[in-house]
Amino acid sequence: MEYKDLNGNMCELSFAPGHFSMASKHVLVIAKYQGRWLLTNHLVRGLEFPGGKVEAGESLSAAARREVYEETGAVVEDLEWLAEYVVYTDKPFCKTVFLGTISRMEKIPLLETAGAVLTEDLSLDGRFSFLMKDSGMKEILEKVKRIGKWK
Ligand code: GTP
Repeated sequence: MEYKDLNGNMCELSFAPGHFSMASKHVLVIAKYQGRWLLTNHLVRGLEFPGGKVEAGESLSAAARREVYEETGAVVEDLEWLAEYVVYTDKPFCKTVFLGTISRMEKIPLLETAGAVLTEDLSLDGRFSFLMKDSGMKEILEKVKRIGKWK
């Protein structure tokens, strides 16, 4: 599906692995820990699922584990591929969305964020980042509910 994000950039979402010819260089992890969604509090953008950029020579899943740990202190046990979306900025990029299982949370110093937030509430109010609020993410969250991993 195609949609515009809240920055006005065109985006495209797919639940089919390999749909995009562009290599994915960004990751995002959707996970719950003890019944609550695992979010990071980005200093500028607000609450969002943890994630970031893949480093040179790093696999997507290694990047996902590293980013989740760096941003929240959560240790990822398992990752399942869920979706990919492309954001058509002046430098278009592809982001891979994983479902994660968290084995434990560690208290670590967090530099780039105001810390991990565990919440039952995904109300997407003013505290939440713009990237949580576009129609692609809505579709992704509906898919997560249908999968029923955390029921
Ligand atoms: P940092 O290096 O983390 O500061 O990243 P950046 O924001 O400078 O660059 P990045 O490549 O992460 O993002 C480029 C543009 O895409 C920025 O305008 C971001 O706000 C936007 N962007 C990043 N991630 C997403 C996303 O998941 N969805 C949408 N719609 N836009 C995103």
